[in-house]
Amino acid sequence: MHTYLVTGGAGFIGSNYIHYMFGKYGDDIRIINVDLLTYAGNLENLKDIETKENYSFVKADICDREAISKIFKENNIDRVVHFAAESHVDRSIVDPNAFVRTNVLGTAVMLDCARSAWEKEDGSYPEEVKFLHVSTDEVYGSLPEDPDAYFYETTPYSPHSPYSASKASSDFLVKAYMDTYKFPANITNCSNNYGPYQFPEKLIPLMINNALSGKNLPVYGDGKNVRDWLFVEDHAKAIDMVCEKGKLFETYNVGGHNERQNIQIIHTILDTLREELSDDDPRKANISEDLITYVTDRKGHDRRYAIAPDKIKKDLGWYPETKFEDGIRKTIKWYFENEDWMKNVTSGDYQKYYDDMYEGR
Ligand code: NAD
Ligand code: TYD
Repeated sequence: MHTYLVTGGAGFIGSNYIHYMFGKYGDDIRIINVDLLTYAGNLENLKDIETKENYSFVKADICDREAISKIFKENNIDRVVHFAAESHVDRSIVDPNAFVRTNVLGTAVMLDCARSAWEKEDGSYPEEVKFLHVSTDEVYGSLPEDPDAYFYETTPYSPHSPYSASKASSDFLVKAYMDTYKFPANITNCSNNYGPYQFPEKLIPLMINNALSGKNLPVYGDGKNVRDWLFVEDHAKAIDMVCEKGKLFETYNVGGHNERQNIQIIHTILDTLREELSDDDPRKANISEDLITYVTDRKGHDRRYAIAPDKIKKDLGWYPETKFEDGIRKTIKWYFENEDWMKNVTSGDYQKYYDDMYEGR
């Protein structure tokens, strides 16, 4: 039976991953979720799981070496799945230091503590241990609009935003540990995720939330930047497959083969909301293309991301199972059926962030 230390499990992808893992393995695994519960971490995402005997939550900062090494000492951890990070590009433009701290220093602490717990005197590691570092395709930079250009595992890193630079740094630390200490790890670089429990600072939940409440839909620049969207459950599955079957020291790109311009996404959201909301739902009257508002572009805005997930398909048999049309419908329904969740996460500090970020844009 594996004992997983999951960092950032109260966030968007982490909480979906924990749901996926208990759905698949039930009582045959143990998960310890370590999360600082920043603005992006929300234990409500896991309330159906919190009473399970094989699940526990520890509120801790991944930069806190003492707290992290204590968790390793007190538990027989053989898998680390490292999600915890500052994850939003716009916030990284405003406050890069928070990203360097958590994403770079936090990853360094996680690597150090795992190595101390696992490395034997002769420098080898037990066969069953693995550290999976969850990263992003944004480390590769920006692609031209050429439809044949993709990010591959061999594409040189060229990050542009403080967020992607901090993730690239953390990837290089993991690579350094693999090269120097033969530290048993894998890295996954995934494209943009969407699905339930995503904080509404990111494109898809922000647009759904604003459309439902009749607020402007702020489109950066010309709205033609392209992202490759993957349903979050498919990402969770990819991470599990890399843990189970991934060859040590390898990197796997994970992507949806599903490129859309931002403006296309917004039209899909409006169309789907109109189809799915019942006629007597008062929110339906708010849904309108007139809400679309072009605003000042993001600084250093990457034009296009697109992953060719050929290696993970060939080596591990993973592919993006969820069709975008199905995944986006499921996601939109989840948001309008979980209005309380949205209200809870958008009150207080988030409201202030939103006002500051979009004021005068
Ligand atoms: P998120 O912002 O929703 O969640 C991050 C979680 O980390 C939160 O629960 C937060 O409380 C926690 N956290 C932040 N700082 C911490 C600290 N110092 N100590 C402990 N916990 C801390 O992020 P997400 O979208 O779920 O992304 C998870 C991971 O996946 C990140 O590493 C991100 O770079 C990567 N990723 C995200 C996407 C995407 O589309 N969202 C795509 C590819 C890769
Ligand atoms: P985002 O969800 O922040 O993800 P990332 O920047 O990591 O890809 O943004 C996705 C795309 O949507 C990106 O091109 C920026 C754009 N965007 C807007 O046009 N308006 C918005 O309000 C937000 C949050 C994003």
